Amino acid sequence: MPTLNEIRSTFLNFFESNDHAIVDSSPLVPRNDPTLMFTNSGMVQFKNLFTGVEHRDYTRATTSQKCVRAGGKHNDLDNVGYTARHHTFFEMLGNFSFGDYFKEQAIPYAWDLLTKEFGLDKSKLLVTVYHTDDEAADIWKKYAGLPDDRIIRIATDDNFWSMGATGPCGPCTEVFYDHGPEIWGGPPGSAEEDGDRFIEIWNLVFMQNERFEDGSQRDLDMQSIDTGMGLERIGALLQGKHDNYDTDLMRALIEASAHVTNHDPDGPGNVHHRVIADHLRSTSFLMADGVMPSNEGRGYVLRRIMRRAMRHAHLLGAKDPVMYRLVPALVTQMGQAFPELGRAQSLIEETLKQEETRFKQTLERGLSMLDDAVADLSEGGELPGETAFKLYDTYGFPLDLTQDALREKGLGVDTGGFDAAMAEQKAKARAAWSGSGEAADASIWFDIAEAEGVTDFLGYDTEMAEGQIRALVRDGAVVTEAKTGEDVQIVLNQTPFYAESGGQVGDTGVVRTDGARAEITDTRKVAGVFIHFAKVTEGTLTKGDAAQLEVDHLRRSRIRANHSATHLLHEALRAALGPHVAQRGSLNAEDRLRFDFSHTKALSLEELKQIEDDVNAYIRQNDTVETRIMTPDDARALGAQALFGEKYGDEVRVVSMGTHAGSGKGADGATYSIELCGGTHVQRTGDIGVFVTLGDSASSAGVRRIEALTGADAFRYLSEQDHRVAALALELKAQPGDVLDRVRGLMDERKALGNEVAQLRRELAMAGGAGQGGGAAVEEIGGVRFVAQVLSGVSGKDLPALLDEHKARIGSGVVLLIADTDGKAAVAAGVTDDLTSRVSAEDIVKLAVVQLGGKGGGGRPDMARGGGRDVTNAEAAIETVRTLLKG
Ligand code: ALA
Repeated sequence: MPTLNEIRSTFLNFFESNDHAIVDSSPLVPRNDPTLMFTNSGMVQFKNLFTGVEHRDYTRATTSQKCVRAGGKHNDLDNVGYTARHHTFFEMLGNFSFGDYFKEQAIPYAWDLLTKEFGLDKSKLLVTVYHTDDEAADIWKKYAGLPDDRIIRIATDDNFWSMGATGPCGPCTEVFYDHGPEIWGGPPGSAEEDGDRFIEIWNLVFMQNERFEDGSQRDLDMQSIDTGMGLERIGALLQGKHDNYDTDLMRALIEASAHVTNHDPDGPGNVHHRVIADHLRSTSFLMADGVMPSNEGRGYVLRRIMRRAMRHAHLLGAKDPVMYRLVPALVTQMGQAFPELGRAQSLIEETLKQEETRFKQTLERGLSMLDDAVADLSEGGELPGETAFKLYDTYGFPLDLTQDALREKGLGVDTGGFDAAMAEQKAKARAAWSGSGEAADASIWFDIAEAEGVTDFLGYDTEMAEGQIRALVRDGAVVTEAKTGEDVQIVLNQTPFYAESGGQVGDTGVVRTDGARAEITDTRKVAGVFIHFAKVTEGTLTKGDAAQLEVDHLRRSRIRANHSATHLLHEALRAALGPHVAQRGSLNAEDRLRFDFSHTKALSLEELKQIEDDVNAYIRQNDTVETRIMTPDDARALGAQALFGEKYGDEVRVVSMGTHAGSGKGADGATYSIELCGGTHVQRTGDIGVFVTLGDSASSAGVRRIEALTGADAFRYLSEQDHRVAALALELKAQPGDVLDRVRGLMDERKALGNEVAQLRRELAMAGGAGQGGGAAVEEIGGVRFVAQVLSGVSGKDLPALLDEHKARIGSGVVLLIADTDGKAAVAAGVTDDLTSRVSAEDIVKLAVVQLGGKGGGGRPDMARGGGRDVTNAEAAIETVRTLLKG
């Protein structure tokens, strides 16, 4: 019985032997499509090849693509665990033709693979075609010999596939497997088609159209093929199972779940194991591709899936976090096919553990609130939307978790009410989401790349070069010239200007032609085209002109130093904190560097110092910085740090620096830092000069941020700090080295003096001294002794001690103290214990506070405190208390 890993290989090898390039799965976060939340099918990475705006050096490809369907058009989250074939994560096997072969070849490939390689029984197979697609029907008939009754014509969108609202699409033909009459269900298109007898195993899309935002559709210039076959489905079939979760791979994960929760894999908790197995895959793969749990966008979908799994683990009675303990089983099963999993293993484990620990703190209380809320509902009833929102807001229950929990009881949620309550948060999340997308139409740059070729980057070796102006773009349209004062985007055949990427900012500088000059304010790139954002300062730039290009040298040098220092910092962080440290973002600007990395705790001063010392030691080593080009695999074998999920071409640039004192990386076993990087770097580490951190802060959940300076900026910063210390020393009449001790001594002294002053003030107040509002005469009101005093020069927190002294002095009675604190009033009232049943200090304070322009106040019957805005009403406040005592 072939394993899923073997089936994947058989598929890829079959198409490779038919001249298809085996292409790596692209990351789950699409790089080329801001409209899509997650990669949801094999064709996503090839989208621009179908529409013809991009070309690669192959026209046939095959992949096993990681897919997540948990959000957007294709969303299977709700059904996971309860059905045989729904997953949030799955692998889609596919073969692709980009204007190469079409139906006539795609159908025979599919038929041969299914019947010969996989050995499926031909008599069990049937197909659907789009109702007008005679051609496809004909090929099935002729090549596969299928009779007419096993070629079913479907007129609905079921046989017209599209990735989303926009993009390439086309009619499709689907292959079904008939499990036989003993299983209920009817053929596609029949009333019983939802039954389990006829199962779709492969979808072949004939890409020939493109859909646009406004609903219109055009014919593509070329006809292409996109196919998709769920690995888990075909696996179940080939392993003689009826349920994807019974395949070897899913079964291994279910058994791992059974093991850590100590629950029979096939017992009543089976549905929980299934949910956990599925969600373990989607969450781990998302994190391996750089998504981290958060409350917005992709990160929130990840968190929702995690929490759902965690609730199911809780239902299995798990007391401690369990999800992270399943990661090794996943890496065993899938780490070979997807090495990014192994590379991210410690990060995934750490994040899952932390999330589960946190969620467990509210899970139990949330579930019991949910139980109470539905106690009176009968089957089919709905939980009020506000309650669902409260669960979301207070207990961290995503809506689908609540729905999932209620589903078991046959209950639903008033989602309208939930949505209404959520509207504000949603609006916020949407704003953040649309803000992060580059929705601008990139097709103009693809057109330019097509017509003029991509830009050759010369900037690793030079900051000055000549290029030819190949295109000028103004306000989103191609123009032939740009005049003085105009803003224009310039494309050249080659350039020394670095285009923003990998955290390094774009270059600025000057471009000159015969008779014209423009300032370059930024450089970016799309589709291999370098876009120079420029303002023409003299003359007219014209397409075709030869241009002198000059990068702002000083600025670039500073950027370079910052970028190289970032690599050293990355390594120093791993050395100091552990191998879970992975880059989560970086900025290499001219005036500073910023590095975000996965780590859950704030760094201690010792850790920061250690890191700073390490980086400076490698700077002083003054080693040559080496760049080499190699295959991604060779680079990883050297131990290169790469961004998880980043897609690299056939060749990568590897930047190494520093000689490790102990054992390091690289062929020599001694290189300190090795990273895949397209950025520009110093020649020797000594060029960085000096490195200083400005401290660390939280960037987002589980991600820390360090900002730092290098070179002259770092020196200036240190020198300013030094001058500050020198000035302090002068002021303190101490040596600079003794400043810290002196300041600590002064602080202690100040504290002692403060205590002494407070004590003296209290004594003065008790003695009715100067400025204390005429002393503290004891009045007798309605048989009760009453002392009222307005005090200045004491603070609110001195009042309780004074109250006690007054109470002790009068033995029995009521004391009201009002302190003037910069025009505001602090109030305290005390009642001796023998009188608390007659009058409460709380009532007194509340009465007084109102007079003093405040609100509230509280405490105990024998002592209460409050405050007001205006102390000038102190006498009136005392008078109301007198009245109270009289009454
Ligand atoms: N893109 C097609 C699908 O996802 C093959 O079904």
